[in-house]
Amino acid sequence: MTLNASDKVFVKERLERAREIMLRYPDSRSALLPLLHELQDAAGYVTQSGMREIADLLGITPAEVLGTASFYTMFKLEPIGDHLVSVCTSLSCQLYGADVLYRNLLAHFAVANKKTTADGVFTFEEVECAAACGGAPCLQIDYKYFEFLDPEKAVELLEDVRNRGLSIVHEERGSVNAPLPPLTPEEVSKGPAPVGSGPLSETAREEGHG
Ligand code: FES
Repeated sequence: MTLNASDKVFVKERLERAREIMLRYPDSRSALLPLLHELQDAAGYVTQSGMREIADLLGITPAEVLGTASFYTMFKLEPIGDHLVSVCTSLSCQLYGADVLYRNLLAHFAVANKKTTADGVFTFEEVECAAACGGAPCLQIDYKYFEFLDPEKAVELLEDVRNRGLSIVHEERGSVNAPLPPLTPEEVSKGPAPVGSGPLSETAREEGHG
């Protein structure tokens, strides 16, 4: 069942569950993160009215709930599409062309960063290191990993998910494509694929980011 933004979330079984979660902690305010997860699971994102419900349950202010929810990137404060596509553009992935891969995806699906496709299927976001540097470049769809991608493979993967569904695609393909060949010394010395153009700046190299 899909909830409307104004529907009460913590009722019946969900209210029971919230109370059970709160009992796990000596200070019920410590249940804030799990309750935010409950809210997001139920409503699809962290709604304003849901945050007020959590504040009432925990005896804190809505501003405190918002302060925590807005700190963690896994909590979404706006509605998102059926699938969240998180593309890592940190250094290891950049070295293997993540910027180009991401720009190509956005162009293919005619959407901007942090926005949802017109059909409501995908919301795209750029993320910091997704802790799969050995499989660079990588992306996650609803937090399921897909590694060793390139621009064409990434588009083909998402089209497959759009047509056949994430669980089927993930089950059939697994997370990992064939590894890419290692970078040549020349490619490494060039630095990450440019957002604008050119290799890492001299300043970045001096600061040890290269
Ligand atoms: S830099 Fe992309 S997973 Fe670490």
